[in-house]
Amino acid sequence: MDSKIEELSDEHQAWQALLNHLAAMNMIHWATDSGKPKPDRFYFAVICGAEVVGHLTIRKQAILVPASALTQNVDIPLTAADGEPLSEVFVETFAVNPDHRRCGYGRALQERALIKAELLGCCQMRSWSSADRVENYALKISMGFSVLPALYPMPGGSAISGVYFVKRIEQAK
Ligand SMILES: CC(C)(COP(=O)(O)OP(=O)(O)OC[C@H]1O[C@@H](n2cnc3c(N)ncnc32)[C@H](O)[C@@H]1OP(=O)(O)O)[C@@H](O)C(=O)NCCC(=O)NCCS
Repeated sequence: MDSKIEELSDEHQAWQALLNHLAAMNMIHWATDSGKPKPDRFYFAVICGAEVVGHLTIRKQAILVPASALTQNVDIPLTAADGEPLSEVFVETFAVNPDHRRCGYGRALQERALIKAELLGCCQMRSWSSADRVENYALKISMGFSVLPALYPMPGGSAISGVYFVKRIEQAK
């Protein structure tokens, strides 16, 4: 069946199909506010007939040096050499239905998000992925993402093993 990747809003006819897919992937809570788009998010979906079989959500954010006593407990916006504040795209959720994996949809979604990041004027795309996401690790490494091993702090003080993946984006002059 023909498939296509589209950027969706909640006015798109495939929005409900995206919600169905997000629910099946147990990601609807992370990706939406009770089924409505979260502010400042961008949603991409793989549409196959009437079904959404994969998705990726991103948000644009400033790159901040985290607060500590050294910075008087305030986050410091990172800037380019000319003083311009730097921003990035952060991937919040990303999944392909199990019966549609290894067809290239995951890679195509990542490539689409990288194009969006460039259009948004961002200098990088970043995500965090827990140590059990072996397929995602294989995909990101095959696409040339840089890897930064890091514990992710959870509410309540525990931490999860994983890595940040980062891809630099060269802005067209
Ligand atoms: C990660 C995920 C989105 C990949 O989607 P996908 O559509 O199967 O990925 P692709 O078909 O585009 O794979 C691209 C490349 O990634 C690598 N890859 C993907 N799955 C792999 C696997 N199971 N084993 C080894 N390599 C794998 C391969 O290099 C593959 O290229 P190839 O098929 O030409 O060898 C999918 O496995 C998934 O939904 N996993 C569960 C959710 C998840 O982990 N989300 C990300 C973190 S929140």
